[in-house]
Amino acid sequence: MKPHRFEAGHRDQLRNERRMKMQPAQGILDRAAPTPDEVCADLGCGNGYLALPFSIRCRVVLAVDAQREMLEDLISSAGEFERLKLVPVQAEATRLPFSGGSLDRVLAVNMMHEVEDRGSFAAEVERVLRPGGRCTLVDFQKKETTFGPPLQERIQEDEVPGHFPSMRVASLWSFEEFYQYEFVRL
Ligand SMILES: C[S@@+](CC[C@H](N)C(=O)[O-])C[C@H]1O[C@@H](n2cnc3c(N)ncnc32)[C@H](O)[C@@H]1O
Repeated sequence: MKPHRFEAGHRDQLRNERRMKMQPAQGILDRAAPTPDEVCADLGCGNGYLALPFSIRCRVVLAVDAQREMLEDLISSAGEFERLKLVPVQAEATRLPFSGGSLDRVLAVNMMHEVEDRGSFAAEVERVLRPGGRCTLVDFQKKETTFGPPLQERIQEDEVPGHFPSMRVASLWSFEEFYQYEFVRL
């Protein structure tokens, strides 16, 4: 089954009131607790629901998305300070243009369920993170919820760690509609 990719034409839904209520960006940011020296890549960043607030808390955010319109929207809605810390990168998350061990953090929010080759995706995340680096991974609970992708495309919460043999789970937060993992690269 090839999962569908969120269409750039619907990108307003990524930052609307319903989303902000269901999945506040501030909560994800506070639980991830990035430090100001971090080089972070937001994979499948969309139009920046997380990349924008993370750019204020990190040294730099490499904002990666396969769709150019998403990155254009992100940059046009960034303020002057955020723009200085955001680097838009149009790329597939399964083939990242970054050297091995070069990143302190990877963010993957509501995007892993869209990746067809999850094995290659997980291997890329593990490759680009330095030992001790962190991965903040958020995705939808595999059940009917008010918002989100078709049920058959969702990833069961307890199946996520099995995709990442070179990372350990530091924390897991489970909510009604989504879960948030904090992984540490071994
Ligand atoms: C549902 S949106 C989530 C966007 C953002 N992370 C957020 O939470 O608002 C998923 C995004 O992931 C991107 N995406 C999906 N698969 C991708 C891949 N293999 N490589 C790069 N981007 C991908 C899509 O283009 C889309 O912008």
